Amino acid sequence: MSAEPAGVALIGSGSASPETVLTNQDLSDVVETSDEWIRSRTGIGERHVLSPEQGLKDIAALAGQRALAAAGVDASEIDLVLLATSSPDDLFGSAAQVQGELGASRAIAFDITAACSGFLVGLVTAAQFIRTGTYRKVLLIGADILSRWTDWGDRRTCVLFGDGAGAVVLTAHDTDNLLGFELRSDGTMNGCLTLPYQGSPNAIHPKANVAKGTYAPIQMNGREVYRFAAKRVPEIVEKALFHADITVEQVDWLLLHQANQRILDAVASRLKIPGEKVISNLAKYGNTSAASIPLALDEAIRDGRVKPGDIVASSGFGAGLTWGSAVFRWGI
Ligand code: ACO
Repeated sequence: MSAEPAGVALIGSGSASPETVLTNQDLSDVVETSDEWIRSRTGIGERHVLSPEQGLKDIAALAGQRALAAAGVDASEIDLVLLATSSPDDLFGSAAQVQGELGASRAIAFDITAACSGFLVGLVTAAQFIRTGTYRKVLLIGADILSRWTDWGDRRTCVLFGDGAGAVVLTAHDTDNLLGFELRSDGTMNGCLTLPYQGSPNAIHPKANVAKGTYAPIQMNGREVYRFAAKRVPEIVEKALFHADITVEQVDWLLLHQANQRILDAVASRLKIPGEKVISNLAKYGNTSAASIPLALDEAIRDGRVKPGDIVASSGFGAGLTWGSAVFRWGI
């Protein structure tokens, strides 16, 4: 632990995807849909789904391990493990299991639940701990297994989601490479996208009724979510760019939560960012919720598109409703 305030740098990334791949064609065996419908409405071609023998902690730890290796940081150096997820193996939290799996023995670990904005909220949270000098090295993982909570009989939602994990390592640094951010929530619109607990009364005592139940599958008003994202995401990216004192022209990469290609295109067009600067891997993974931003970032870093020094404008948005944007310079 250090007492000195510091800047923040993002220095390594990793990701992990389950082996099983479900194509649009495969889904057309399960519900009445087609490759043409799914591709043209969403840009999704296939998605990965986790087998029941594996847990969230397995792919989260693998992504974390790969990020640590890329950063050249040993697990024992990590002060804080943040796990952004809405589908933990354990409702008490899965971050500590991941911390244990990784051997990050000095680290405090906790979960962050903010659905598809989870990685963005985690990034800003990590940065605050580093900026105040409380911690020097943070492993931030975004991971979700929404296949557990998808209604596989509902064609309006089951074609959208996939499972995966992505991670980045953040470190204290003499310059601050988190250039600007902005986070927002609007709980009045919560009903647009939910994974609600549903219980029925269970009389445990003559004077006490408690709820007994479980979580119901994902429910979504697709049109409302589309309208929300197309309006709020460009606004918040502009705010984060303003805080960062960065112009749209200076942005090397637009890295949005991978919800839907049509949302990516609409946001890029509103911001006047050309298609070649927009990172998209929806075709291969679908919407992996909290994993989607670090998964897409990791791919773009590993294939050489995103290079150290590049400026990335990122935005997460989703259930809550919650949305946010962070502008950062990749690497040191
Ligand atoms: N295959 C074939 N037909 C379908 C499918 C499908 N998979 N899904 C819906 N349809 C049908 C509907 O039944 C409906 O038919 P009907 O008119 O006979 O009733 C028709 O297509 C139109 O349905 P809508 O729900 O109105 O479809 P829409 O054009 O709005 O597209 C979509 C749906 C792609 C979900 C769109 O609303 C959207 O892009 N929304 C954004 C939401 C999103 O991306 N959510 C991801 C999770 S949230 C997040 O990460 C932020």
